[in-house]
Amino acid sequence: MRYETAQDLRIPKIGFGTWTIGGESSADPARDAPSLKALRSALELGYTHFDTAEGYAGGHAEELLGQAAHASGLARPALFITSKVSPEHLGYADVLRSCENSLRRLGMDYLDLYLIHWPNRSIDLAETFRALNKLVADGKVRRLGVSNFNLKLLKEAVALSKTKLLTNQVSYSLPDRTCVENGVLAYCQANGILLTGYTPVKRRFIHGNKALQELARRRAVTPQQIALAWLVNQPGVITIPMSFDPQHQAENLAAADIHLTESELEPFLNI
Ligand SMILES: NC(=O)c1ccc[n+]([C@@H]2O[C@H](COP(=O)([O-])OP(=O)(O)OC[C@H]3O[C@@H](n4cnc5c(N)ncnc54)[C@H](OP(=O)(O)O)[C@@H]3O)[C@@H](O)[C@H]2O)c1
Repeated sequence: MRYETAQDLRIPKIGFGTWTIGGESSADPARDAPSLKALRSALELGYTHFDTAEGYAGGHAEELLGQAAHASGLARPALFITSKVSPEHLGYADVLRSCENSLRRLGMDYLDLYLIHWPNRSIDLAETFRALNKLVADGKVRRLGVSNFNLKLLKEAVALSKTKLLTNQVSYSLPDRTCVENGVLAYCQANGILLTGYTPVKRRFIHGNKALQELARRRAVTPQQIALAWLVNQPGVITIPMSFDPQHQAENLAAADIHLTESELEPFLNI
């Protein structure tokens, strides 16, 4: 596994996403068994960095992640757990309540990282950060971050956070380079803020891309692994693919160790 070092932390470049674990926007009990199986195999394969949110399966993704993490027998410090507060809960008291609820569902007494899931222009960001800063001071949360923040909002968040922001989590993949075009990636890299790329596996794009398939064939890996390696070969970029399939999970984890040369990367510089 390749790691990113930030603020005295060693964070695996590839973590495990939990969107669709336990349901989608609400809990779906029919998914419990496959979801627990997926989480169990991820933990057995060696994933230690998990990304969840109070909004995933109406909080049930956190419950299942907590169950699987406890059953794994791993000590809490061996795990890096991120959760997120939903945009409708960004008022002061709501943030504190949301965090308590996430901790209860996870069965944990702190989060490694807590993110604002999406900005909400109808709630003052300063009020949200007053609550987030308190969560850090109270030891409920180790690090703060944001998600889906454009450059202007990210700079506002940086100014309001009493501790250095750890990440901005945004959509980033070979076909989605919005964060390059809008300056978010360059700002993060210049300021020691990790960029966490979500939705990194774009199956339709990958299937239709000959250069990706040719490079994968030459390196004896899958095109999906090249797509992930392309992300984590970039300084300050980490990613959190999700898969129910243990074979895919293993391939995704192994993608962190694929080092691409400049000439291999060249065809993908300007897609
Ligand atoms: N902050 C935000 O607003 C936000 C938004 C979206 C996502 N996220 C986070 O980012 C995580 C990842 O994003 P995502 O779940 O949208 O998309 P993703 O991880 O890019 O893609 C998931 C899909 O790709 C397939 N897949 C994964 N690895 C594969 C492989 N090696 N080969 C072939 N297919 C593979 C999975 O199918 P199989 O199960 O069949 O492998 C699944 O259908 C989420 O789970 C969530 O934690 C955050």
